[in-house]
Amino acid sequence: MKKIAPSILSADFSRLGEEVRAVEKAGADVIHVDVMDGHFVPNITIGPIVVTGLRKLTSLPLDVHLMIEEPGRYIEAFAQAGATWITIHAEVCRHLRQMVKKIRQLNVRPGVVLNPATPLRRLSTVLDEIDLVLLMSVNPGFGGQAFIPEVLKKVEQLRKTIDRNRYPVEIEVDGGIKLENIGEVSKAGGDIFVLGTGIFKTASYRETIRKLRREIEK
Ligand code: DX5
Ligand code: ZN
Repeated sequence: MKKIAPSILSADFSRLGEEVRAVEKAGADVIHVDVMDGHFVPNITIGPIVVTGLRKLTSLPLDVHLMIEEPGRYIEAFAQAGATWITIHAEVCRHLRQMVKKIRQLNVRPGVVLNPATPLRRLSTVLDEIDLVLLMSVNPGFGGQAFIPEVLKKVEQLRKTIDRNRYPVEIEVDGGIKLENIGEVSKAGGDIFVLGTGIFKTASYRETIRKLRREIEK
């Protein structure tokens, strides 16, 4: 089943609890949590303590996207905080397969993220060990950036590789997704769609999610 994952990065943090409950009620499938350290990306956001809080608020899966320089130092803390999925960037991992296995051992579903400029071949040693690949369709760091259309080809190619080898791996796409382009991303082979501004900056979350779902189920 295709999934819609609101990114809380664009939520109103003074009312984070209400915002998460609102998107859950509006039909979201997953809550996407953007963790940034001010090193791997220029922005700083949240840590495990907020994930612990989120875990108490919602029964939806928590999709923790680690945009941090040394994920190995924090994986355990995010697992304990209640992450359902943890995705780590290939660009910062010298021993990617080892790190993925470590996530799995902590009973968390592992995923690997690629920046727009990072080639798919970086996945060759981990595709049989992970549950999801997150393809960035903007350069990570901030919400509200424009979708990079070249990433569609990457989604298509990865879809073919996954299907050909029958890997039980989902493709997630993150950055610049809106009602206007989610259909294309879905047709290219995406399974999970992350939207920050595309949901939280709209008037009715329920209406938006209903329309998004119509686009991905076409
Ligand atoms: C970007 C983050 C995204 C971001 C997406 O670094 O990883 O999850 O919140 O925001 P939009 O949907 O506004 O591009
Ligand atoms: Zn993200």
